[in-house]
Amino acid sequence: MLHRELFYRHLGQTSPEPLAFEVERAEGVWLFGPAEPPSDPAGSATTPLSAGIPADQAHPRRRKVLDLIAGIAVSGLGHGHPKVLEAIRRQADRYLHTMVYGEFIQAPQVLLAEKLCSLLPDPLDSVFWVNSGSEAVEAALKLAKRATGRTGLASFHRSYHGATHGALSMGGTESWKAPFRPLLPDTHLLPYGEDAALDLLCTDMAAVLVEPVQGEAGVRVPPDGWLQRLRARCDALGILLIFDEAQTGCGRTGVWFAQAHSGVVPDIMVTAKAIGGGLPLGGFAASRDLMRCLTHDPVLGHISTFGGHPLSCAAGLASLEALSAEGLLDRVKPLEARFREGLQDAPGVQDIRSCGLMMAVQLGSWDHNKAVIDRVLQAGILTDWFLYCDDALRIAPPLILTDAEADWAIGVLREALAAEMASR
Ligand SMILES: Cc1ncc(COP(=O)(O)O)c(C=O)c1O
Repeated sequence: MLHRELFYRHLGQTSPEPLAFEVERAEGVWLFGPAEPPSDPAGSATTPLSAGIPADQAHPRRRKVLDLIAGIAVSGLGHGHPKVLEAIRRQADRYLHTMVYGEFIQAPQVLLAEKLCSLLPDPLDSVFWVNSGSEAVEAALKLAKRATGRTGLASFHRSYHGATHGALSMGGTESWKAPFRPLLPDTHLLPYGEDAALDLLCTDMAAVLVEPVQGEAGVRVPPDGWLQRLRARCDALGILLIFDEAQTGCGRTGVWFAQAHSGVVPDIMVTAKAIGGGLPLGGFAASRDLMRCLTHDPVLGHISTFGGHPLSCAAGLASLEALSAEGLLDRVKPLEARFREGLQDAPGVQDIRSCGLMMAVQLGSWDHNKAVIDRVLQAGILTDWFLYCDDALRIAPPLILTDAEADWAIGVLREALAAEMASR
């Protein structure tokens, strides 16, 4: 590989075993690696690739991998969508960074905020742009503390809200937090989806932060009615309800934002990941009245140099418009059903949890899961596990996946699952 050695030598690493797939190009649902070196001394151009790995038709020596996780729920439109690229180019010709967030009127920020608000229920009509999901969570927590004058913050077991100190403080898995303590004080972890959680809320709390469907816990959908009961309890106690839709947003679950499944309207909604159309962007929406708290006592209650970068907002707007124009939200449920049907009786599969194209295929153990992930990668499909559920396989493809591509992926997954069971 062209950059493998430099990758290990100079890039800060996050795990002892990175996937280390070198990506040279990405298009649609496909990731392309660099050309394989010739395996015979003569360098024959017709040397076959490793068995099972599909090659790029144009470059038969190039490795081609189906992206079945969309950069972890980012690339809903796939990679390199022409409308998104065009919007980025157009904006790059006008201006890049001109001023810190919030001081200048920058059309891409305003237009994306308008579009996002049009997809959200009342009274969510004001958006503050930042750069990532973690940063949006941090700022949403600050807004809740500022607005209520309270300090307590509640979240849920196995939730994931990001890796910065405040967002990590709200995370639901102690082993990921312990080495970084002390974290934020006055945080409280409650059982997700259980009514017992409602009894643990109290008037010292500024906010409850919740994923309407838990992502990194391995796709956990709360029982019907629970989010409504949580909303009612927050109202009764004057607690602000924050939905973290970093992962569930932008059509991934078949609706624009997962709040639409329950009809529950949060006080603050966090968005990130797919909202930037493949560029870094996060944000949080609230009513204008609530958002105004950040303008006084103190002024500049939250600020960011690069928040709402014009390139990211232009890409995000083009991406939301293309998702609409191509009717891609309507693809989500049929594709979900196709994967569920195709995999439910596959060898070793214990359960499939899903909400649209957020899917978790439950296997027996981490070793089992990792072996299947490695097998399917060898066969040309990129999938993954979950941060807080390492024994389930992640399926979260771009929404543009065709039925034929889904069927091919299901076939490869079934073969890998069968081969792994046979080898045990
Ligand atoms: C629900 C949720 N919130 C927040 C984050 C953090 O987002 P980021 O990695 O952009 O900081 C993630 C990332 O996976 C997430 O899934």
